[in-house]
Amino acid sequence: MNHHQKLLSSASAEFTQVLDRHLSRRTVLRGSLLAALGSLLPASSLQAAGQRPLIGFRPVPVASGHGPLPTISPDYEFQVLIPWGTPLSADVPAWDGHPLQRPTARQQEQQVGIGHDGMTFFPFQQHSDHGLLVINHEFGYNQHVLGKSSPTNLEELRRSQHAHGVSVVELQQKDGVWNVVRESAWNRRIHARSPVRFSGPAAGSPWLKPEQSARGTLNNCSNGHTPWQTYLTCEENFDDYFGANKDWNPSDRQARYGLIAAGQGYDWHHLDPRFDLSSEQFPGEENRFGWVVEIDPFDPDSVPVKRTALGRFKHEGAALVEGGDGRVVVYMGDDERFNYIYKFVSSDDWRKLRERGQSPLDHGTLYVARFNDDGSGVWLPLSMDSAVLRERFESTAEMLTFTREAADLVGATPMDRPEWTAVGPDGAVFCTLTNNTERQEPTASNPRAPNPHGHIIRWRDSGNHLGTTFSWDIFLIADETHGTDDPDTLSSPDGLWIDPDGRVFIATDGDQEKGLNNQLLVAAADAEGRPVLHRLLSGVTDCEVTGITTTPDRHTLFVNIQHPGNGDPTLTCFPAPPGSQRIPRDCTLAIRRKDGGIVGS
Ligand code: FEO
Ligand code: CA
Ligand code: CA
Repeated sequence: MNHHQKLLSSASAEFTQVLDRHLSRRTVLRGSLLAALGSLLPASSLQAAGQRPLIGFRPVPVASGHGPLPTISPDYEFQVLIPWGTPLSADVPAWDGHPLQRPTARQQEQQVGIGHDGMTFFPFQQHSDHGLLVINHEFGYNQHVLGKSSPTNLEELRRSQHAHGVSVVELQQKDGVWNVVRESAWNRRIHARSPVRFSGPAAGSPWLKPEQSARGTLNNCSNGHTPWQTYLTCEENFDDYFGANKDWNPSDRQARYGLIAAGQGYDWHHLDPRFDLSSEQFPGEENRFGWVVEIDPFDPDSVPVKRTALGRFKHEGAALVEGGDGRVVVYMGDDERFNYIYKFVSSDDWRKLRERGQSPLDHGTLYVARFNDDGSGVWLPLSMDSAVLRERFESTAEMLTFTREAADLVGATPMDRPEWTAVGPDGAVFCTLTNNTERQEPTASNPRAPNPHGHIIRWRDSGNHLGTTFSWDIFLIADETHGTDDPDTLSSPDGLWIDPDGRVFIATDGDQEKGLNNQLLVAAADAEGRPVLHRLLSGVTDCEVTGITTTPDRHTLFVNIQHPGNGDPTLTCFPAPPGSQRIPRDCTLAIRRKDGGIVGS
């Protein structure tokens, strides 16, 4: 053992003690899950009101969690809604997945897009049978959208660009069946070319102000919503759409966001100079993506607003909660290996700011998280009050446009791909850390190296979400043991929602053990306070399960089946019938308990 190995060994012994402290009641659940429930969340918060257990449904067994169609608990049923190509106006036809009759670019502009991801149901006046479903269209690879590896003409380029973005869809339920209201005043598509505007500290700055007006939102992954009834859509892997047609090398800044000359598969830059990093016509276009974008679904004429105070990174989600004194707090993940968890705190009570005509999302402070090994944590402000940030950046606008650089400088903790954030009814905040196969050294907050299956971290902020310190623990480590016949196996937790009773809904995106399809699980505590998982749904071959929202009465749960079969009709034609040779299409499932109870119960 050389000196270096000795150091590693002693660090690793220390690390084990630290881990033991944080996994304070370490339990192997049904042979597969190393789950830990520390002192942050009282067991009672995960237990039923009264004596009934929170979860009573019969789970989907491993043996039936495979194949080309979704499988749901026998106590539940689902209805397929808004597959890619669903018309949102009377002017365009429906598309059924026929490979030779794909939507035109013009049709796609008025049809539901592809890549269904984060979404929120906005009810009309708290009605549970009528509202607006606002849904992200994260991505659709050329092979799936176009049936070829690259767009070869403007029509194909536009078809791909119009398939991205966001849809607003009016839905109504009659006699237990949900329908799209086709001639709706609210139905709307926002895509890669729709007009947008910037607000907050970086708006109008040279970083965001090329000559051309701002257009488009891209790679809309997870989401959030505000108490003033607007939708937040989060731009994640925007670098995928850019490439360079001429000699071009990324600056360190551009490389920090993954931008490369070769492009990453879409090849939009061959046909659209906006996405050509070497184009002099659109300098800095890449800086206009990677933001949280606010959309007012109840005003179809409103222009989406990129809220620069929330920083520019590969935004996954934006879980918003009202802090102790009416300030809004937004928890956000940056989904790339070794990137960070952030929170934004508005400067004042959101109601007062809005009364003054100001957006609560334009005025406030952005923080990034440091998770100390002893279970404490600090929110580090990204502000020009910091000498180290003043040294690097000339203005708040520059710092926010290159948020990742700022977070690197203040000493944030690199995490295992932060995906969704969610806040429980008792104020505990959860974040899925989906996986990190490149981690070489474990830390207390990212305790597995490499981390192929991911984990979920949980913290509680001081000062009712407003403080700058927190305490944290590990809620769950996915699939710690392999090869058992475990009914609860999961890998790569991604989508996350916690209902008002404390049920934790977890959707997965990654290779699952035992050949399972990606899935939706619901966790609640057993009598000893340990989280126990129940598989509510398994998706279809090669899909991701994502996007979790409910009606106000929680009798309908909407969940997305993203990229079924990765677009390959030989694997699945879902939602068209098996053997129909239709291209599989992203769609939403409206899920209900057969007995009409609360979803997840
Ligand atoms: Fe779009 Fe990180 O998932
Ligand atoms: Ca995700
Ligand atoms: Ca993911």
